[in-house]
Amino acid sequence: MNVFVLGGGVTKFGELWEIGPRKLVKEAVGYALESSSVDISEIDALYVGNMLSGILGNQENLGALFADELGMKNAAAFKIEGACASGGLAFHNAYNAVKAGVYKTCLVIGVEKMTDHKPEEITKALMAAASEDEREAGLTFPGLYAIMARAYCKKYKIAEKELASVSVESHYHASFNSKAQFPFEIRLDKVMTSPYVADPLKLLECSPVSDGAAAVIISSFDGRKKGIVEVCSSEVASDSLGLSGRKSLTSIPASITAAEKAYKKANVKPRDIDVAEVHDCFSIALVLALEDLGFFEKGSTLSEIAKGKIRLGSGKPVVNPSGGLKACGHPIGATGVKQIAEISDQLAGCAGKRQVKNAKIGLTHNVGGSGAVSVVNIFKKV
Ligand code: COA
Repeated sequence: MNVFVLGGGVTKFGELWEIGPRKLVKEAVGYALESSSVDISEIDALYVGNMLSGILGNQENLGALFADELGMKNAAAFKIEGACASGGLAFHNAYNAVKAGVYKTCLVIGVEKMTDHKPEEITKALMAAASEDEREAGLTFPGLYAIMARAYCKKYKIAEKELASVSVESHYHASFNSKAQFPFEIRLDKVMTSPYVADPLKLLECSPVSDGAAAVIISSFDGRKKGIVEVCSSEVASDSLGLSGRKSLTSIPASITAAEKAYKKANVKPRDIDVAEVHDCFSIALVLALEDLGFFEKGSTLSEIAKGKIRLGSGKPVVNPSGGLKACGHPIGATGVKQIAEISDQLAGCAGKRQVKNAKIGLTHNVGGSGAVSVVNIFKKV
């Protein structure tokens, strides 16, 4: 069965103190239904990507909760958790169900509500995605990615300033996205003088704590609108929870495996990708992603970025036109679904000011933990 993305929608990302998860989800689903011209009664199953609602909000059972909220009580409903890859994994499960002919049309939701909680509560909750040893050692996610940043900078002789330049790119793209948490440009000196969170990573090299929701509708029916987007492949790979079990600190092996499988199934090469949304939870994460996905040679990414190779207007692929996790925001469970909504808009030609010209093939890359699970999806305009 061929699988199509009929439409998608995203709420504003940011500190949304007045809006609870039910309202956030309703808003995102409203956009998705409108953009796909589908009625809620046509949806057979609901897949929800979320990580923290149980730990931070004492609210589980999100499948049934949102099915009820959306008036689809008889639909099959599931919650999928895989840390920061929860949204991508929810999509992967829905895709497999449609492809296998189990359901005709599925709604995939990603949602997270983080900012109502204290920073120390959020940091501790996020560490539920790490290994027992890492928690016991007092590590945090900025700390884990700082270990990878140090290893990478040492191996490829990268200056701190070069790594910091990644955030300038993300903010440039976010300046075209009114739904981004930080919809403005920043200068390199501002990144460099922001306080260290975990040396060498500074505040403006970290994705923020965010609230937000995203939704996409997929179906074996190819839709009622122009600009049809087909899912070519959706692949997942996993690895050890902790960094100490990995065979590399300067790449994320699960991303390499998921990408190889996804390229093979879609029958495309990295050079065919016109636009990509990748998991840049920290500056170093973007660099590793671009190499793991085969876009640039190991150690060369920062010099390629400096030449404008991922920028709107000059890049191929253009990377993170939404502003990515860094500048658009990172409401954990929503991120993987937002990436798909963005790529589907890009391929359908309705991405507005941040439209990538002639975008025909797109990719999303969503990582859970420090690389314990990775989801790579490839899409094409038909
Ligand atoms: N541009 C401009 N300002 C920014 C900014 C940016 N890119 N990022 C943050 N700020 C601002 C905030 O708006 C805030 O301003 P305010 O004080 O006027 O409100 C200020 O900088 C501090 O930000 P805040 O989010 O309050 O900082 P914090 O110290 O509580 O947390 C981090 C900063 C980096 C520690 C936190 O965002 C974090 O833990 N991020 C990583 C989350 C994570 O690990 N996710 C999982 C990834 S695997």
